[in-house]
Amino acid sequence: MRSHLLNDTTAERYRSSVTEGIERVAAKLATTDRPFTGVTVDALAPRIEQIDLDRPLHNTTAVLDELEDVYLRDAIYFHHPRYLAHLNCPVVIPAVLGEAVLSAVNSSLDTWDQSAGGTLIERKLIDWTAERIGLGPAADGVFTSGGTQSNLQALLLAREESKTDSLAKMRIFASEVSHFSVKKSAKLLGLSADSVVSVPVDHDKRMQTLALAHELERCERDGLIPMAVVATAGTTDFGSIDPLPEIAELCDRFGVWMHVDAAYGCGLLASLRRRALLDGIERADSVTVDYHKSFFQPVSSSAVLVRDATTLRHATYHAEYLNPRRMVTERIPNQVDKSLQTTRRFDALKLWMTLRTMGADGIGRLFDEVCDLAEEGWRLLAADPRYDVVVEPRLSTLVFRYIPEAVTDPAEIDRANLYARKALFASGDAVVAGTKVGGRHYLKFTLLNPETTAADIAAVLDLIACHAEQYLGESLDRAS
Ligand SMILES: Cc1ncc(COP(=O)(O)O)c(C=O)c1O
Repeated sequence: MRSHLLNDTTAERYRSSVTEGIERVAAKLATTDRPFTGVTVDALAPRIEQIDLDRPLHNTTAVLDELEDVYLRDAIYFHHPRYLAHLNCPVVIPAVLGEAVLSAVNSSLDTWDQSAGGTLIERKLIDWTAERIGLGPAADGVFTSGGTQSNLQALLLAREESKTDSLAKMRIFASEVSHFSVKKSAKLLGLSADSVVSVPVDHDKRMQTLALAHELERCERDGLIPMAVVATAGTTDFGSIDPLPEIAELCDRFGVWMHVDAAYGCGLLASLRRRALLDGIERADSVTVDYHKSFFQPVSSSAVLVRDATTLRHATYHAEYLNPRRMVTERIPNQVDKSLQTTRRFDALKLWMTLRTMGADGIGRLFDEVCDLAEEGWRLLAADPRYDVVVEPRLSTLVFRYIPEAVTDPAEIDRANLYARKALFASGDAVVAGTKVGGRHYLKFTLLNPETTAADIAAVLDLIACHAEQYLGESLDRAS
């Protein structure tokens, strides 16, 4: 069994096993002609169910053959140009190389004595990101598992920096289309059930700052404490960017912590043509960035950044075995002092390899391309009488709905759109997402693949129309 341990004596086995696995994935990527096979849960579950985990195969080739059957064949492939659903990007090769290196070396980023250079590399990437945001010389931050954790940590710091310790009185302000992790964080932080105040958005799905001002005034009038305003720079459904400078003004006026959830919009930090869309982000107290959304990084790769490094002390606890206080005076750098996690992956290495290979401009160009594509897709949709499209994109999502010519019942139109999405998924020809707007069912493209073309978008719109019409035809048959 020791032959399976990765060490000085097994380097050759490591090389051949990993190469065999890489060969399989490379072959898969090269030959995948659809983003999904359309496999059903009922078809796949028994294949996984019948595997006896107490009877190992002892052979890499056999394990990979089995993996083909239970995973590789039917996985959802984000690299395919017709995967248009969620905020999953195709990944860049330097980052995948980083992933291979980091899991083999297996550094843990909590302490210097488990990572050495890894700690400094992560710190340099945090400094780089903070500088791109413009947070100033006292900024700091830490890598996290994702936007959810980054938002949670930011709001923890906001809570601890708040003017009150009455949890019941604290209020967080976020737009009605902000990410649900804000509400989840409020719950985890012990805030009251009505602690997240939903601020209405304008026609472009951006927070209405006048409404925010009114809510902040009301909060104070009611003797409650505004704990944080969460501005979203890239909402999940619409890619809309809240008016950051105006929100910063209000946060200054009311003395409130400003958090910017740029989980999606952070790609603009590298953009060569659209960076100005983030103007005002430099005034934030904390910022969430998800490199695994718009920096073309594999899951997970995210960070939370803060304007004032000292606020990270709210996540600091000491353990004699790990990070005793004396390490601070000995100036031994410990990332665990800033993190909600203890053992933590060296995800930063992926971004490091990416920046060292492609440079930030390389990432920015790719992100600009998908935003250009979204603009083209919007023009297609706006000119297409079969579709209603919600807002002109700022980033790379399109929310739209098939409107059949002969049907006026909104509930029937809902069903046609729901059916079309399901049927498309079952066919595997393309994967699209869905959401609700004004209580009605809409479809969504999240465009993060520079390989997707306007022709792909047009073809998928035709497929959706076909499926929706098929539903409506069958529905008519059922009625007659
Ligand atoms: C705006 C926004 N914030 C936060 C998140 C949560 O990020 P994660 O899925 O990395 O936890 C998402 C995810 O889609 C998001 O769109």
